Amino acid sequence: MTKTLLLLPGDGIGPEVSAIARRVAGRLINEGLDLAVEEAAFGGASIDAHGVPLTDETLARAKAADAVLMGAVGGPKWADQPYDKRPEAGLLALRAGMNVYANLRPARCFSALADASSLKRVFVDGLDLLFVRELTGGVYFGEPRGVETLPDGQRRGVNTHVYTTGEIQRVARVAFELARSRTGHVCSAEKGNVMEAGLMWREDVQALRDAEYPDIKLSHMLADNMAMQLVKNPKQFDVILTDNLFGDILSDEAGMLTGSLGMLPSAAIGDPGTPGLYEPIHGSAPDIAGRGVANPCAAVLSLAMALRYSLGAPPLAGKVEAAVEAALDAGARTPDLGGTTTTAAMGDAILAGL
Ligand code: IPM
Ligand code: MG
Repeated sequence: MTKTLLLLPGDGIGPEVSAIARRVAGRLINEGLDLAVEEAAFGGASIDAHGVPLTDETLARAKAADAVLMGAVGGPKWADQPYDKRPEAGLLALRAGMNVYANLRPARCFSALADASSLKRVFVDGLDLLFVRELTGGVYFGEPRGVETLPDGQRRGVNTHVYTTGEIQRVARVAFELARSRTGHVCSAEKGNVMEAGLMWREDVQALRDAEYPDIKLSHMLADNMAMQLVKNPKQFDVILTDNLFGDILSDEAGMLTGSLGMLPSAAIGDPGTPGLYEPIHGSAPDIAGRGVANPCAAVLSLAMALRYSLGAPPLAGKVEAAVEAALDAGARTPDLGGTTTTAAMGDAILAGL
């Protein structure tokens, strides 16, 4: 049966990098992959067209697709939108609406790029981390939230960090399952020393490990210590499990270890059988948008993750990943990697590698 990939190019460099992912998908389709690629406006582009960053129709199409591939959202043009109508609010609504609660963020250092890292080669060459970040709960979604003006004229801002055992254990389960196909080691981060909900996170993760995953080696680390350990000795980690906020921060840090955020894909998945949401980790990069120099690798590698986790084609995923590696080995480097290769030429190099 034909599978459907819904492309949401979005804003800034999103359309440029999505176009390359679309070319790669087109090649796979020509070679026999039974896939239909559709497109919809999202983020700022959707605000311009429909007044809101995510329309009901686009959310319905996302939920009906087998996989959704997003480019990037946001930019200065929409910075003055009311908070709940910003492009970023559309992204949070899409994640929540699709119920994709587990965000997989691999931070893998390609050997050809080890010298682009801000750490010495010895610390990052061969690095292969997998973040599993909780994505639809925690302080980005918790109630109460907002800013109120107090009787004395001061303002009071509130966001709430909140998790239930169910929310913690379903994302921990994803981490444990993935760890089984890797080294079997999961390190979970929280701030249980100062947050009751952090201590509960630790206890609930440990309880699931003890009950169902005795083969998994589970360790716990305070999130601030993890920020330090990630630059001190990143190779000590394999699978890292975090809540939404710490995962947002720590995965950016780990991403930079690999040389460029422009290389990093991500997958957001929910319950088995439901569509996944795939997106490069980088943002919309308004400063370089429209110049044809954005690195499309993260978008292409996100397509590879979609092939693996939602489109039932793991061998093709491996092929696409190898093609990206081949393009790098052949010397292709966009400016973020210190080279002069254009977006389109990087696409050519990836297609050649395929
Ligand atoms: C990310 C981004 C998003 C997040 C923003 C754009 C809402 O930083 O995917 O990490 O905070 O989750
Ligand atoms: Mg982020």
